[in-house]
Amino acid sequence: MHASLLQSAKDAMAQAYAPYSKYQVGAAILAENGKVYSGCNVENAAYPIGNCAEASAIAAMVRDGARQIREIAVIGSGAELCTPCGGCRQRIREFAGAETRIHACDSSGVRRTFTCDELLPTSFGPEHLS
Ligand code: THU
Repeated sequence: MHASLLQSAKDAMAQAYAPYSKYQVGAAILAENGKVYSGCNVENAAYPIGNCAEASAIAAMVRDGARQIREIAVIGSGAELCTPCGGCRQRIREFAGAETRIHACDSSGVRRTFTCDELLPTSFGPEHLS
């Protein structure tokens, strides 16, 4: 994994706004332009409209003009492995290839690495609409 991704994901997690679940998540993306984009979860009193960390990181990447995820690290504040939720698997898929790596981390490093295709097999993507 790219050296700065873990620290960037941890820094993002520290900024999470998660007063309801108390479950803080940080995500950091290495994009095709070599830059790192991060995001945290942002909850809301109207529970269903909260944002996941991965969605926040993707929004930052897109805002900066990047369109391809080289790899992404995700870290959660719980003891269980924090893997992207179903919706975020699809969000990642939009900007990733089948072999793009998704690292589920804890504070000391990568616990498990998955490819996008492992997390979302036989997925639907942009090429279906071209
Ligand atoms: N969460 C994320 O930010 N990313 C995930 O992939 C898993 C879940 C957030 C959403 C919510 O704010 C909290 O974790 C508990 O579900």
